[in-house]
Amino acid sequence: MLFNKDFMLGAATAAHQVEGNNVGSDYWIMENLEHSVFVEKSGLAVDHYNRYEEDIDLLKRAGLNAYRFSIEWARIEPVEGQWNEKEMEHYIKVIDYCLANGIEPVVTYHHFSSPAWLITKGGWESPEVVNYFERYARYVTEHVAGKVKYVCTINEANMRLQMAFLIKDITERMSKQSEIQNQEGSVQVGVNLSQNQSQMMMSMMETAKAFNIDDPRKVANFVSQASEEGDLLVMKAHNAARNAIKSVDPSIQVGLTLSLHDIQWVDGGEENAKKAWDDEFTHYLPYIEKDDFLGVQCYTRKIFDENGANSSFETGTKTQMGYEDYPAGIVNVVRRCAEEFKGTIIVTENGIATSDDERRCEFIKEALTGLNDCITEGIKLKGYFAWSLLDNFEWQKGFSMTFGLISVDRNTMERTPKKSLKVLGSFMEK
Ligand code: BGC
Repeated sequence: MLFNKDFMLGAATAAHQVEGNNVGSDYWIMENLEHSVFVEKSGLAVDHYNRYEEDIDLLKRAGLNAYRFSIEWARIEPVEGQWNEKEMEHYIKVIDYCLANGIEPVVTYHHFSSPAWLITKGGWESPEVVNYFERYARYVTEHVAGKVKYVCTINEANMRLQMAFLIKDITERMSKQSEIQNQEGSVQVGVNLSQNQSQMMMSMMETAKAFNIDDPRKVANFVSQASEEGDLLVMKAHNAARNAIKSVDPSIQVGLTLSLHDIQWVDGGEENAKKAWDDEFTHYLPYIEKDDFLGVQCYTRKIFDENGANSSFETGTKTQMGYEDYPAGIVNVVRRCAEEFKGTIIVTENGIATSDDERRCEFIKEALTGLNDCITEGIKLKGYFAWSLLDNFEWQKGFSMTFGLISVDRNTMERTPKKSLKVLGSFMEK
């Protein structure tokens, strides 16, 4: 049961989580506030900016043939309308290094972090974001055309809406701090809810001040809560970027990625489960039906009863992230997406945060065996990218979440491949 050479078997990273010194981004500012909600700062991260050759070498040596990474908008356009050619050249070098080594580069144009100036201008709730993102996408594509075949415009384009639901839920539970912290695992990204209310307020006010915005509720970075219009703006930005990319190079395959849960239900939970899937997936279909592919990202499942998601039905152990270890999730989600989305599907992220690498090996084996069955069933599945190539900066949760196939000693930046890297590579035909 091996994947053939046409299949992209690889691992993923995101610029801000691995590169280091991403000083022009909104995240850098938020991490460095006095009352920051981030448990630690990204700082040098894992210095992938300077060590990408070594990291790609390790990926290749393990038998993988593809690498998904992101370009940092804040580096390319540090000041609105001003392009940094030198930074663009850096990413071209990364792409060229992949190509020279027979590794397919899958490039994401936006992975959560945005230039700080964008947030000051209203961020992801301002209609202007559509033009800004389109212009940036066009600029990058003009430089990577002819080299890159797959572009993900926006990573987890539904994350802002998921945050809106999370924040609504927290507000309703505001009086019970312990219940609030339990909610961290309800989104597939590192959020830190361990702060008390006054700390949270302080950090919101400092954030607004840092971006020169009068009302803290109006700070609209990518992992803040979306309004209904804001949710739509992400889709408009994606559509505009897709058209720009295609107009520069029609051969580039374009898609976005979504954060999806394997939504299940018990008796009485059908309606809630249906609504959850509609919120996460179905209502986006009109905006992605012209895409070449859909990037599917799933880490766990959610089980609904008549009152909503209920974790007491879960049977698996919890990962470091606080959600259930459930490798079958990605397989179920791919099957479900394939029923409604007719283009190619790529698993752009899937993985487990654990210090037990044997557990990760089992997780990979179970997920890949199920995905191989999907191909046999006729699903157009074109690739699988494990999250993540390296242990890295898990956003508000810092460096303690170990998703990586390679560990990094952050004092020396020395890399040590884990057994799971080899296990992943063993699924590729020789
Ligand atoms: C994101 C990654 C993140 C991962 C694990 C996804 O939400 O795209 O940036 O590190 O999940 O939480």
